[in-house]
Amino acid sequence: MDGFFRLPNRVVRGEGRQLAKKVMSLSRLYLIDIEPFAFSVVASPGACLFEVVCRAGIDLLAVCGGQGICGECSVIVLDGQVSRITEEETEFLTERHLRKGYRLACCTRIQGPVKIYIPDRTLASVPTGPIKMNRA
Ligand code: FES
Repeated sequence: MDGFFRLPNRVVRGEGRQLAKKVMSLSRLYLIDIEPFAFSVVASPGACLFEVVCRAGIDLLAVCGGQGICGECSVIVLDGQVSRITEEETEFLTERHLRKGYRLACCTRIQGPVKIYIPDRTLASVPTGPIKMNRA
């Protein structure tokens, strides 16, 4: 299952956040914190980080459409569990970037709760409008 829904900040802060984490651990879903936008989405194990971010309403630069061949969808994994670095990533990201946590979103799979930061240069547009709940 590759589903997710966006959680309003009031749900994922304080005690609500602890409750959300408990519910998600029981249902095998993970909380994905997205900075600098200060909101979170829920994703299933194995979900593609690129798809999770796009479905959250954030447009990443992606000339290749998520095929791992343009190197434009880099995000920083600040904390959490994600898949191993792929060959495609080592082609586009320097050793220094990899040490800092840069990953190609389209080559990265969710394996646990994750906190990411999306650099300005990776954004195709900034999300606007009210937060909506989605489920794929
Ligand atoms: S979208 Fe092109 S490498 Fe990720």
